[in-house]
Amino acid sequence: MLRLGLIGYGKMGKMIAHLAESKGCRVVAIIDPEDPQYPSRINPEELKDVDVCLEFTHPDAVIDNVTQLAALHKKIVIGTTGWNDRLEEVRQLATRHQTGIIYAANFSIGMNLFNRIVAYATQLIDKFPEYDVWGMEMHHNQKADSPSGTAIQLANTVLANHSGKTQAVYDTLYRRIQPHELHFASIRGGSVPGLHQVGYDSQADSITLAHNVRDRACLALGALEAALWIHERQGFYSFNEMMDARLC
Ligand SMILES: NC(=O)c1ccc[n+]([C@@H]2O[C@H](COP(=O)([O-])OP(=O)(O)OC[C@H]3O[C@@H](n4cnc5c(N)ncnc54)[C@H](OP(=O)(O)O)[C@@H]3O)[C@@H](O)[C@H]2O)c1
Repeated sequence: MLRLGLIGYGKMGKMIAHLAESKGCRVVAIIDPEDPQYPSRINPEELKDVDVCLEFTHPDAVIDNVTQLAALHKKIVIGTTGWNDRLEEVRQLATRHQTGIIYAANFSIGMNLFNRIVAYATQLIDKFPEYDVWGMEMHHNQKADSPSGTAIQLANTVLANHSGKTQAVYDTLYRRIQPHELHFASIRGGSVPGLHQVGYDSQADSITLAHNVRDRACLALGALEAALWIHERQGFYSFNEMMDARLC
């Protein structure tokens, strides 16, 4: 049974703990400054029995945490977002300490597949100029950012696979949209955990692709899959690379 250390025991850490056994894993250590029953800082003694650490904390804490974990030669799953400008530094940590690190802004396996489906669908539609392309995302009213990082990723996928669309626009336009623009709208309201749609529309008909998150379980399950995968490896990987390996 894979032994896990949770660095950060917030919403994601708790969901991972809840689902760990279903994936043949066991949580043996938790580090979190919020909850007094757990140590607030990473220390070697607490993590001595841990095979893989899952880091879901805060952008301000993630690099320091990963630096400490790599120095302890722990395998690491990084779920915390907002540190993309330091990818090279983290890659070097994996090399220097001969450990394995995998990261993603979205650990949903379904979203990863959805992104691939959108890429292929857009390539097909690109051969038929009568179809226009649009995108839409909807999230709960507590979400901090807009558009979602996943919406930006999906928009980039459309742009990369469509010869006529060269620019994504996310804001209200107050003007007619230009043919080269891809409009990707954001809606905030209620408790929607996450809906992303990409549509292809002609005068005659329309195709709508949708990915709907039911709850955080899909993200936690993907992070657990990543933990099982990185346990066997050394080096620095994106979740996309793990999915590439699984799909070939
Ligand atoms: N990759 C994905 O699929 C995915 C999915 C969901 C969320 N995320 C990202 O993962 C991160 C956490 O999300 P969440 O929803 O779980 O947030 P959350 O509920 O706020 O939980 C974060 C927890 O980490 C703790 N923490 C902060 N600094 C720490 C440190 N140095 N060491 C250990 N624990 C620390 C926080 O404690 P305090 O409250 O005391 O600061 C809090 O308990 C965010 O960056 C979020 O964007 C990624």
